Amino acid sequence: MELKIALLPGDGIGPEVVDQAVKALNAVGEVFNHKFTYTDALVGAIAIDETGNPLPDETLATCLAADAVLFGSIGHPKYDNDPSAKVRPEQGLLKLRKSLGLFTNIRPIKAFPTLIDKSPLKRDIIEGTDFTIFRELTGGIYFGEKNLNEEGTVASDLCEYSEEEIERIAHLAFKAARSRRKKLTLVDKANVLETSRLWRKVVTNLGKSYEDVALDFLFVDNAAMQIILNPSQFDVILTENMFGDIISDEGSVIGGSIGLLASASVGSENALFEPIHGSYPQATGKDIANPVASILSAAMLLEHFNLNEEARAIHIAVEKSLEVGLVTPDLNKESKYGTTKVGDFIADYILNADDIINYNQENIDYGQSTII
Ligand code: IPM
Ligand code: MN
Repeated sequence: MELKIALLPGDGIGPEVVDQAVKALNAVGEVFNHKFTYTDALVGAIAIDETGNPLPDETLATCLAADAVLFGSIGHPKYDNDPSAKVRPEQGLLKLRKSLGLFTNIRPIKAFPTLIDKSPLKRDIIEGTDFTIFRELTGGIYFGEKNLNEEGTVASDLCEYSEEEIERIAHLAFKAARSRRKKLTLVDKANVLETSRLWRKVVTNLGKSYEDVALDFLFVDNAAMQIILNPSQFDVILTENMFGDIISDEGSVIGGSIGLLASASVGSENALFEPIHGSYPQATGKDIANPVASILSAAMLLEHFNLNEEARAIHIAVEKSLEVGLVTPDLNKESKYGTTKVGDFIADYILNADDIINYNQENIDYGQSTII
């Protein structure tokens, strides 16, 4: 298969982690005989610095012409500390999601067996956790009308959803549940919000066409508690844009590090794959950021094109790196391995997984899984 991939490394640690994902993809290309070609484009703070625009037209054109987008991260402290900034890096990502029609964001949350003791949560709580969040991505309060009065003393953000916006993501979530453990939980705030009551109505109606899927509902405040108290009760969680943003960061604690969580953003025409972590400015250029979330996002890209065996090869290599302790300092404070070493090991393991007999510590230190 030939795939044209737009690379949008963005800000902070984005370029470092995307480099490792590309190494993994190239290894997969070599082993399974696929051709992946890449076009780099600017987004975020770096794009503002160079062009004044967080999403230059050229970047959007590159993404539209590609089969898929691999995204790093965006954001810079100089904007976080300046609420009056008119142009912000995040606008680039939001405009990109909207322009590519990426209405569904899929965020799988899993407790890796080898990392269970790294989580601040107790083993017996998180063991067996395996759920996926379907977060609506192009509507709601993120995209509603925004207002600030002239004095700058009163502000508002409108949260709006239409039936169509709810239906299209709900179909995808029901289908995903059907292929998993057949349970769908709608997370909302229907005791207070009109939009949430519309979500409940639409999803309940749709549920009649998916009778094999058990549908239940949770208010978001309770859901936030349940994710920490009893995460293995969940299979697929469906929710609106902002609730999904919040509970997915919360869910990342289960895996032991936000540096492990990948995501896919899909629409009817386009797809974008990105780690859920941000630009982590304090780590930029230090070779300490965890590349696993970005590498697993590349695996989600492969799955999107039904390259399931290929995606599995990435998962196996990632799991191996965790098992042998070839991890970045977020997972082991004492670790001497950095972003590049972890990326090298994973790519090398994809290329040489069968050569495990030759695998030894000296080569691991060298960033290779085997003697080659
Ligand atoms: C995410 C991020 C973004 C969001 C920001 C960077 C705009 O937090 O992808 O979760 O809020 O959607
Ligand atoms: Mn977020």
